Amino acid sequence: PNTITTNQSNKSFAKNSVEWDLLRNSINKFTDNHSLKVPLVINGERIYSNEGNLSSSSLVSQVNPAKHAQEIASASQVTADGVKFAIDSALKAKKTWMEYSWDDRAAIFLKAAELIETKYRYDLLAATMLGQGKNVQQAEIDVIGELNDFLRFNVKYAEELYHQQPVQSSKGVWNRAEYRPLEGFVYAVTPFNFTAIASNLVCAPALMGNVVVWKPSQTALLSNYLLLTVLEEAGLPKGVINFVPGDPVEVTDVVVNHKDFSALHFTGSTAVFRSLFGKISSNVAQGIYKDYPRIVGETGGKNFHIIHESCNVIHSALSTLRGAFEYQGQKCSAASRLYLAENVADEFLDVLTKNLDTVSLGNNAVHEGFKEFMGPVIHKGSFDKLANAIEEAKKDPELKIVCGGKYDSTNGYFVQPTVIETTNPNHKFMSQEFFGPVLTLYKYKPSDYEKILEVVDTTNQYGLTGAIFAKDRSAIRLAEEKLRYSAGNFYINDKCTGAVVGQQWFGGSRASGTNDKAGSGNILSRFVSVRNIKENF
Ligand code: ALA
Repeated sequence: PNTITTNQSNKSFAKNSVEWDLLRNSINKFTDNHSLKVPLVINGERIYSNEGNLSSSSLVSQVNPAKHAQEIASASQVTADGVKFAIDSALKAKKTWMEYSWDDRAAIFLKAAELIETKYRYDLLAATMLGQGKNVQQAEIDVIGELNDFLRFNVKYAEELYHQQPVQSSKGVWNRAEYRPLEGFVYAVTPFNFTAIASNLVCAPALMGNVVVWKPSQTALLSNYLLLTVLEEAGLPKGVINFVPGDPVEVTDVVVNHKDFSALHFTGSTAVFRSLFGKISSNVAQGIYKDYPRIVGETGGKNFHIIHESCNVIHSALSTLRGAFEYQGQKCSAASRLYLAENVADEFLDVLTKNLDTVSLGNNAVHEGFKEFMGPVIHKGSFDKLANAIEEAKKDPELKIVCGGKYDSTNGYFVQPTVIETTNPNHKFMSQEFFGPVLTLYKYKPSDYEKILEVVDTTNQYGLTGAIFAKDRSAIRLAEEKLRYSAGNFYINDKCTGAVVGQQWFGGSRASGTNDKAGSGNILSRFVSVRNIKENF
C-alpha cells in the first residue's frame, strides 16, 4: 500500500525496449550538441532572426530546466512588423479557410492526431520532456493523452453543432442557423505547462474556420513548433495559424490594437489576463474594433483539498500528494491549500510525509531517471519565487515547514516538495499562488467544519478547482452547497487535478477565468458567430 503512482489516466508508457530506444533517439536528436533553430512561421514562411528580415530581430534561448547549461532550442523573436505581417497573412488565409467545408477542416486535425500518435510520437514526447521538465509518463499523458483527446473530441463537438438545426420552421418558411467563423482573427496566448493546452487554444478556433495569431510561451518553443509542423504536414493551409514567439508585451500591443481583432484565447497568469482584458475593454469603449471581441481565459488558482474526519485517510493523503506535487505543482489546478481535520491529522501527515520522503529529486529527464516523480520547475524566475517563499516561511512565526524546504539550482531548477503549516487560516500563504511544489496546510477542529467551509470560500480571489474527502454524505452535501462558486471543478474523494477531456469540463470563474470549459463543446461556441437566415417560399 501507500506507494506513489504517477499515472494520471489509464494510459502509461509501454516499457518495451524498442520504445525506449525510439524515445532515446528523439532525445539525442535534440541534445547532441546542437539546439534546434525555431523560426517564426508566418503564411507558412520560415523566418529566422539575423537574416535581415524586418519580421524578426533577435533570438531567445530555450534551455532544459533539469540541466540549464543545455540549450535545446533558440527561437527567433517577432518584431512589431512581423506581428502585422502575421495578422495580414491570417486575414488573407481566412478567405479560403472559411470556405472549406467543416469536415475538410476536421480531417486535418484528425490526421494530425494520427501523426502525433505514430510518426511524431517520440519527437513530441522528447521535446515536452526536455523543454518542459516532464517525466515520460507526464509527457505521454499531456501529448498523447490530452492533446489528442482535445483534437478528437473537438471534432465530435463540432459535428454535433454543425449538424443540429435548432431553429423551427413553418409552412412556407425555412429558417436556419449558420455557424460562421468570427469575422476577424483570433489571438492565442498559450502556456508552457501543457503542450495539450497550447494545442487546444490554437486548434479549437481554427477547427471552427477561424485564423489564428499564436504567441507561444517562451519556455515551450520546441514542442510548440514541432506541433505546428505536424499540423502543416496534416494539411493545414498556409496562414491559418501563424506562429509568432516574442516579447509578450510587444506582440500583444500590436495585436489588441488591430481593428480586426475578434477573440482572445488565453491560458496564463491572472495578472497578465487582467491587463489584457483591461486594454481590450478600453479599446472597445473607444470603438476601435469591428467586433466586440470574445474573451476566453483560464488563469490562476489556489486550489483546496478539505479533509473531513470521516475520510479514508490513506486515500486522501496519497491523493493530496499527487494533487499538490505531480509535475512540481505547475498546474493551474494543483492543490495548494489543505484544510485538515485535527483528529485525522497525525495519520494523514504520517502517510503524506513518509511517501514524500521517498520522492527523488534531481530527475534529469534526459537519462535514466525517466520515471522519477519530481522534475525541475520551469525557469529561474519560478525557482527564485519558490525559494523566497520557503525562506519567508522559515522566518514567519505563523508558519512552520512540515517537510521539504530544500532547493538547489546548481544544475537544474529543483525544489523539494514542501508542506508548510500555518496557524492562521487567513495567512497570505493560503491565498497567494506560487505555481510550484508548495502546499500550505491548516488544521481545523472537526466541530468547526462549517466555519472552515466559509473560510475556504472567502480566503482568496480564485475559483478554479477543489476537493472534499469525506465518507459522511451530509459533510459532502454541505461542502457542495457552501462552495458553489469556489471551484469550477469540484471533486469528491479525488484529487483536484487531472481533468479528462469530455469527462470533467475544465475551468473556473472568479479570478480563475471565464469558465468556458475546455474539453466541452461550449468552448467551440465561443468561436462562432451565428447568422440566422429566414427564407419565404
Ligand atoms: N486541466 C488540467 C488539470 O485538470 C490542468 O489538471
